[in-house]
Amino acid sequence: MPRPIDIIDLDDLGLDEGAHLLVKDALRKVPAVRVRGRSPTLDVDLPAWCRVQGYGYENGWVLRPQVERYADAVRAGSAAAPVDHPLPWWNFAARGALVERGTPTGDFALDAKEAIWSEDAARSYAQAAGAQWDPNRAIPWNAPVSHSVEIEDAIVQIMTYLIENETAALIAPVRFMGRVHPHFREVIQVLAVQAADEARHIEVFTRRALLRREAPGRSAASGQASLASLLDEDEFSCSSFLLSVLGEGTFLSLLWFLHEHAPDACTREVVRLAAQDEARHVAFSLSHLSYAISREPGLRNRLFAAVERRHAALVLTAGLDQEVFDSLVLLAAGSLEASGIRKGYAAVMQLIREMDESRRRHLLRLGFSEEVARTLSSLHTRNFM
Ligand SMILES: [Fe+2]
Ligand SMILES: [Fe+2]
Repeated sequence: MPRPIDIIDLDDLGLDEGAHLLVKDALRKVPAVRVRGRSPTLDVDLPAWCRVQGYGYENGWVLRPQVERYADAVRAGSAAAPVDHPLPWWNFAARGALVERGTPTGDFALDAKEAIWSEDAARSYAQAAGAQWDPNRAIPWNAPVSHSVEIEDAIVQIMTYLIENETAALIAPVRFMGRVHPHFREVIQVLAVQAADEARHIEVFTRRALLRREAPGRSAASGQASLASLLDEDEFSCSSFLLSVLGEGTFLSLLWFLHEHAPDACTREVVRLAAQDEARHVAFSLSHLSYAISREPGLRNRLFAAVERRHAALVLTAGLDQEVFDSLVLLAAGSLEASGIRKGYAAVMQLIREMDESRRRHLLRLGFSEEVARTLSSLHTRNFM
């Protein structure tokens, strides 16, 4: 004789309307329940549902499954922090979730913590997510412009150069994003929001280039060769080093130089906002590399080799395009008058010295000696990125 606790009355709720929730809830309390109800198809639906879901069924009684599906499931580490080597079959599971056996095995080449992790990843992502800006509202697109046609030409050429650099900076890290084991979700999040930053930079530099012109300026083969070589690096840490520490680190100096010399509020603002984002990209790479080097000091040798390889690949190219160089001089000069040009030229020379100092500072932070830092900085592409 069933006890009241063993009986569940579904009333007229059908299994095709969610009645199984009541059956499952009852089976959490008792090993078997007698199911009653007035749904006209219950007698057919209930045995069928039991069969599909792995529950036993006898004469109106539903029995708990003999083998619980999650009996041999495994927790995908803990939610708080990643493990060193997540299992491939944890796949897309939330970190710390109970993962059922039989989950398909993922193909994530970047599945070792030391290869991609940064202790700063969560904070870096949160900061980036909070610092997103809307190009429509953040930039004074209609700010007055009073500078000469020559200066506008220089700005258009610089924007053209910035756009191709931003495009490479978007594509190079995104190649790795789909290869990171989802267990390291904070790293994927950082890479995703970094890609969104670069997408915005491409947008605002394009809009600034076309503000008063029908077309952008020139794209030099040497500049493109430098950027293309960024995609040749297959190790995440080495790629991050070349792009973010050396390239974007150098670009930070360039963007602040443009901010200082831009003649109109719109140009000033696009480079200022981009520089703020770039500072995060540099900081994340430095924190990742510091972590990776602390786990494996031999990484420094591979970073050195990556710079040498890239230098060798670019040794016959011209480096920074003359048009871009001249545009920087003219922008800093403010006009085509001789005294202005002398001042502008000196400012660009000073910029190049500052770029070198900044690279060496970052290299010292990664534990390279003064001498090695000087060598590495001097081997960095003359195209800046
Ligand atoms: Fe950027
Ligand atoms: Fe960037």
